Amino acid sequence: MKRTLITGITGQDGSYLAEFLLQKGYKVYGLKRRTSTESYENIKHIQKEIEFISGDLADLSSLIHAVKLSKPDEVYNLGAQSFVADSWSQPVYTAEVTALGALNMLEAIKEVKQDARFYQASSSEMFGKVVETPQKETTPFYPRSPYGVAKVYGHWITVNYRESYNLFACSGILFNHESPRRGIQFVTRKVTDAAARIKLGLQTELRLGNLDAKRDWGFAGDYVKAMWLMLQQEKPDDFVVATGKTHTVRDLVETAFDHVGLKWEDYVVQDPAFMRPAEVDLLLGDPKKAKRRLGWEPKVSFGDLIKMMVDHDLKKYGQTS
Ligand code: NAP
Ligand code: GDD
Repeated sequence: MKRTLITGITGQDGSYLAEFLLQKGYKVYGLKRRTSTESYENIKHIQKEIEFISGDLADLSSLIHAVKLSKPDEVYNLGAQSFVADSWSQPVYTAEVTALGALNMLEAIKEVKQDARFYQASSSEMFGKVVETPQKETTPFYPRSPYGVAKVYGHWITVNYRESYNLFACSGILFNHESPRRGIQFVTRKVTDAAARIKLGLQTELRLGNLDAKRDWGFAGDYVKAMWLMLQQEKPDDFVVATGKTHTVRDLVETAFDHVGLKWEDYVVQDPAFMRPAEVDLLLGDPKKAKRRLGWEPKVSFGDLIKMMVDHDLKKYGQTS
């Protein structure tokens, strides 16, 4: 039985990856940080099958303990302060968790279990003010947020530990991926949740920032398979994971409101409070290398993804209101 340690197990990706690895017969250990109110919402259906280890990415000693206890064949580092907007108000914390957290995890592996394979959750946010389109593995980084800068550190320290210590360490440069388990602050979920609430008479308007930003949005359930595939290769490498299609926030809003039979212009209000100090205007990934080398392709289209999320939110409120 293969053993895995997942950081960020309570998050969107952690929950899909844990589900996927459990189905493959892995013994799954999840790093879980202490919180005053326990939050297992995303993993409640598989909670009993996961062995939780208390720890924090900012605390190297806790990671060493976690690696000693779990003896993993594969480590997936998905934990992060992952909300871009908050990285301007909490830049130091973001650096400690999102950048140095990756270093701490690599150090723990180097010291305790050098043959463990390592996956780093790198991000298309590293491309920021893009210097070429579409973005691929060789596209230079130009991060536009403290979060993006922290992810660039996490990315390069992963490459560096691979080259310095011969660790089997890979970075997945994942473009935006969403699901009904997406956190409510992120724009897709904020929109699908609001469309459902407005349809059910629970909310009257939706306040948003930049409607012109373009993102390459895919389904999280598809993307965790690419993470796993990277760690099954003969040699460690880095891969872009994306759909190869891009849409504006306006397209997203229109798709969600159309699905509930409403005109979005009647409800959406632009609010400067949701504008960012520096914006990433356009993300569009080129997933050719992932297709060629991993045999990976996204299955869920943008339209089906947004409808899946709206339907989930309608059901959630329909049942409780
Ligand atoms: P998410 O839902 O926000 O989950 C983040 C996870 O990190 C949560 O389980 C959270 O635990 C944990 N965490 C936060 N601070 C921590 C700390 N100090 N120590 C240990 N764990 C900590 O994020 P996601 O969407 O699943 O994304 C997974 C990873 O991929 C993140 O690294 C993100 O930056 C990266 N990424 C995401 C996307 C995307 O579009 N989703 C794209 C590219 C890269 P709590 O439950 O305790 O808060
Ligand atoms: N969150 C949010 N809220 N975003 C808004 C809003 C709003 O009210 N209005 C407009 N937007 C725009 C943002 O300005 C941004 O251009 C776009 O919607 C997407 O924002 P988010 O959903 O917050 O995602 P993100 O692209 O900043 O970051 C996500 O994707 C990255 C990969 O590119 C996160 O998951 C990151 O962790 C991930 O690395």
